[in-house]
Amino acid sequence: MQFDSWVVMVTGAASGIGLGTSKRFIDGGATVIAVDINKENLAKAASELGDKYVSKVCDICKVSEIKTLMADVENEFGRLDTLVNNAAFANFQNPENVEEASYDAEMTVLVKAPIFLVKHGAKLLRAAGNGSVINIASAAAIVSIDNYCPYGIGKAAVLKFTQDSVISVPGIRHNAVLPGLIDTPILPNVYGDEASAMLKEEFPKLLPCKRVGQPDDIAKAVCFLASDDADYVNGTTMLVDGGMSKLNPFSMMQS
Ligand SMILES: NC(=O)c1ccc[n+]([C@@H]2O[C@H](COP(=O)([O-])OP(=O)(O)OC[C@H]3O[C@@H](n4cnc5c(N)ncnc54)[C@H](O)[C@@H]3O)[C@@H](O)[C@H]2O)c1
Repeated sequence: MQFDSWVVMVTGAASGIGLGTSKRFIDGGATVIAVDINKENLAKAASELGDKYVSKVCDICKVSEIKTLMADVENEFGRLDTLVNNAAFANFQNPENVEEASYDAEMTVLVKAPIFLVKHGAKLLRAAGNGSVINIASAAAIVSIDNYCPYGIGKAAVLKFTQDSVISVPGIRHNAVLPGLIDTPILPNVYGDEASAMLKEEFPKLLPCKRVGQPDDIAKAVCFLASDDADYVNGTTMLVDGGMSKLNPFSMMQS
């Protein structure tokens, strides 16, 4: 894919899927506004990826920081072709145990932040011509996974936001990518190192694709949706889960 002279914003760009997506856009010629709260990882990635990876330390949960970020992009680049709403952390709980503060924090990063990023980025994205927003939701938005509250609900809300924005925020394309299990630091952060290693070993045996996904599997989908080849793709839900969401007890008993 060619993105020469494009300016692309990726949130959560210092790790996992955001980092992989940044690399792929840069390989295609884009400048990436790499937004993250983790200064250390941003600096590490910047030293690897060079001048086209423009680090912006920003907490997307704070609307004032989003406003400053978008104003800086307008002043420094005068252009924004693609916004990839990717940053998140995972909060997996049972509804009977969920705490108010962790619920609020999760819904802020998963739902409120993408809405305000679109609010403050819409003017620049619309001016780009083929401007688009790509929201990274999750297969958990459409399949039930035990103890996934409030994460799964937040991801379902992101999907709804994507679809409604096609009508409500015209002149920009809006699409969602729904990853399955992808090998990123989010796994050990949630499950711990040991459980995450076991998950990575056992899980692929069940999957139709027989492997855990890699950040670049998601990056390829994101770059396609952003590209001129996808200029008639608007409001789509792209599952990139190796077939995980199609598993059911019947198919698993037969395999
Ligand atoms: N890895 C998976 O299996 C998987 C599956 C489905 C969906 N996803 C989604 O993919 C996206 C990327 O996840 P990942 O697996 O690469 O995780 P990751 O932990 O590797 O990366 C997330 C990044 O977001 C940043 N971030 C968190 N809160 C932030 C904030 N308030 N402001 C700015 N940056 C912030 C973190 O610092 C981190 O660099 C997330 O939306 C996640 O929910 C991941």
